[in-house]
Amino acid sequence: VTGIADRLLGEADGERGFAFATRLSGERALPVDHGLAVLSPARMCRHVLVCGATGSGKTETVMRLAWAAAKGSDAPVFYLDGKGDRESAERFCGLMADAGRTARVFPHEPFDPWRGLPHEIEGRLMEVIDYATDGPASWYRDVAKNVLRLVCEHPDGPPRSSRVLLERMDADVLASAHQGASALAALNAQQVRQVRLRYEAFFGQTRGALNATGHGRTRAPPTYFWTVSRCARRPPGSHGCCSRTSRTTSPPASPAASSPC
Ligand SMILES: Nc1ncnc2c1ncn2[C@@H]1O[C@H](COP(=O)(O)OP(=O)(O)OP(=O)(O)O)[C@@H](O)[C@H]1O
Ligand SMILES: [Mg+2]
Repeated sequence: VTGIADRLLGEADGERGFAFATRLSGERALPVDHGLAVLSPARMCRHVLVCGATGSGKTETVMRLAWAAAKGSDAPVFYLDGKGDRESAERFCGLMADAGRTARVFPHEPFDPWRGLPHEIEGRLMEVIDYATDGPASWYRDVAKNVLRLVCEHPDGPPRSSRVLLERMDADVLASAHQGASALAALNAQQVRQVRLRYEAFFGQTRGALNATGHGRTRAPPTYFWTVSRCARRPPGSHGCCSRTSRTTSPPASPAASSPC
């Protein structure tokens, strides 16, 4: 960790790092410099578990570690909050601002999955649907991969909205864009429709939240605060699934038989 004010740096037992808390009692898990627990960059690069009774200071400790990482390194910082706590989000943003970073808070602001190169968009789109990776059902993954590749590596550039994505998921539309492509020859219209159905269901469920564009990149490494409990909350009228659609194990009997979940 570099760049943290000297008063927040400590050194003990041959380790130098961020002096982030006063040591009160208990088993000594970390080096202690003049009563302050020291967390070295090497330890920070491994998993760190912060545990304690309610109100004992876990959130405060984690915030301090996030601040130290933001201030003292170029690493991106991701903060996943299981409580959906607005105060914590505001505190995180304040700390990141102090560290010279801009924080983005989700799902308060829409996520833009459409930026980047064709293969980057293709990779994100593959991940939003929970395709089986082994067994006979993994065949659907291969079909979807082929369709997504054709949709993303399109002569007009990759799709930048769900509307364009879904428009392109049509065998005739793909055939006119990719004349003679071998990937297309291996697909039939029904398979393309089935892949489209899954993405239509996914984007229907996210209700436009993934269609924002135009967030500029900042020069500082990114910091993100995700309110996990709000992401997992069911949209009204849904059938009890989260934002990832479920794994396909067998083909739908007909497009109408398939549900968003
Ligand atoms: N090192 C500290 N110095 C001063 N105040 C602290 C410190 N750590 C925590 N606090 C204060 O103690 C209170 C509880 O802290 P915090 O919210 O971090 O606890 P927690 O372990 O995350 O609680 P919960 O289990 O309810 O999530 C807060 O008001 C916080 O500001
Ligand atoms: Mg807490």
